[in-house]
Amino acid sequence: MPQQTDVMEKIVALCRRRGFIFGSSEIYGGIGGFWDYGPLGCELKRNIKDAWWYDNVRNPPLGPNGREFQMVGVDCSIIMNPKVWEASGHATGFADPMRKCSGCGHFVRADQLWEALATASPWVESLIQQFTPITGVIDTPRLLNWAKTKGKKLAPNLALVRNPEVTVSWLATRVNGQPDAPPTLQEITCYIATEQLHATGLQEPCPKCGAPLGPPAPFKLMFESHAGIEQTEDSKVYLRPETAQGIFVNFKNVMDSTRVKIPFGIAQIGKAFRNEITPRNYTFRSREFEQMEIEFFCKPEESMEWYEFWRDARIKWYESLGIKSDKLRPRQQGKEELAHYSKACTDIEYLFPFSDEPQELEGVAHRGSFDLNQHGKFSRDDENAFAVIDEDMPTVAGEKKEKYVPHVIEPSAGADRFTLAVICEAYSYDESRASPEFMKFHPRLAPIKAAVFPLVAKDGMPEIGEPIYREIKKHFPCQYDAKQSIGKRYARMDEAGTPFCFTIDGQTKVDGTVTVRNRDNASQVRIDRSRCLEYLSDSL
Ligand code: GAP
Repeated sequence: MPQQTDVMEKIVALCRRRGFIFGSSEIYGGIGGFWDYGPLGCELKRNIKDAWWYDNVRNPPLGPNGREFQMVGVDCSIIMNPKVWEASGHATGFADPMRKCSGCGHFVRADQLWEALATASPWVESLIQQFTPITGVIDTPRLLNWAKTKGKKLAPNLALVRNPEVTVSWLATRVNGQPDAPPTLQEITCYIATEQLHATGLQEPCPKCGAPLGPPAPFKLMFESHAGIEQTEDSKVYLRPETAQGIFVNFKNVMDSTRVKIPFGIAQIGKAFRNEITPRNYTFRSREFEQMEIEFFCKPEESMEWYEFWRDARIKWYESLGIKSDKLRPRQQGKEELAHYSKACTDIEYLFPFSDEPQELEGVAHRGSFDLNQHGKFSRDDENAFAVIDEDMPTVAGEKKEKYVPHVIEPSAGADRFTLAVICEAYSYDESRASPEFMKFHPRLAPIKAAVFPLVAKDGMPEIGEPIYREIKKHFPCQYDAKQSIGKRYARMDEAGTPFCFTIDGQTKVDGTVTVRNRDNASQVRIDRSRCLEYLSDSL
């Protein structure tokens, strides 16, 4: 297997080469944070969304104590009445704290500054080699030499480069002043970014050019547009940053138009848009992406039980699709991370090759009655407008039944993030194979399930292969290929992650058998040519 750092590059190259993922509008130089799925990628993502819909909406698992419950779907508009976003809190609160560089104008997310400096700053990467070892022992002549050479090129606005002697003297004063408490790397970084210590205090540098960063200011993440001819404040609309609100605002419509009873869930798959400051890690953080969200409505007193149920069910779902449990990590959020209305939240994380730390695939959140209360308040001026009758209360003659606002459990997953996780998990490398790279997709998710190959495009082999192909493709995505060497055809299918290839060869005419090649171990068995579809159905 290539080094972990190379793995991501290899995955990106394979995805481009084989048509899983392309940069959006590539012929014009692309556009940051937007991606297109090619022929294989769109089949893969479709299979993922279909599996999610089937396993959560059409055939959800049984609830706690083996209880049946109902799930229904909606497909809401992307642009909604802007009041939705006032009620949800996105209009005022959905912003990232950003810091602007005083030198080059680059923006950095305040809460990701140190991560950016540690992982995405060419000048820090170069400078760190001047410390011996990187625990922080400072070699002043080397530092000064770096400032005058590499530093000039990589970090022209860094205090250490602009005014090396003064900057180093501040650092020396600090080191000598507290010999028992050597400065941390973060502190050193701030010292070398500071020219006028007394006037400004310690500064934090821009990962790009080294100049001091300005104070944090909120940056709104919602994309704006206008509905109608006039582009005024009143016609301003937003592209939804999550699909969830479409579900909440249709809660009453769904209750009134169907026979669902609490507890039940409403699901939606759809596009969401966020003007992310730093889209990165391939499709992981994009500006346009798809969510697969469930809002599950239940009685307040049963909500913790449903929260635990959904958390466990969602973890099992990822495992059932081949995500190995050692790369999957449920992380319960600490009290300090929780929103004020939330009782609990678990992030289901996956260890992607681009990071040492697992990253969020899905959040399973206990949202209390916050969303329904807010929409009640903003649309009807009544927090309890969406309260429901407690059907379980025994009827007492002459007394009205009690009402309550349901609590909500929200499993919210990213279709693109999971697609990327599936791609990373499937990527396999085996030097002993003629073509070492192959994609070990779970058969349910594989974009192509089978291929049919006549060994050569003559001697009656295509005449046997074509009917087999036509029969299979009625039931499963299947490809037929009669060109190139058989090794190259297998290699193409391995890269596409096709679990089985059926090959018609010289022996087929003798005894009516074909070979079935297994993608994962390249082993081959012979079966009767009439059994190809049956073999596939049994194996998938
Ligand atoms: N309604 C709750 C909600 O939207 P979130 O944690 O902001 O919660 C849910 O998003 C999921 O959507 C995430 O776990 C992730 O899978 C996906 N997601 C969020 N932002 C994304 C982005 N910029 N690019 C790709 N996927 C994203």
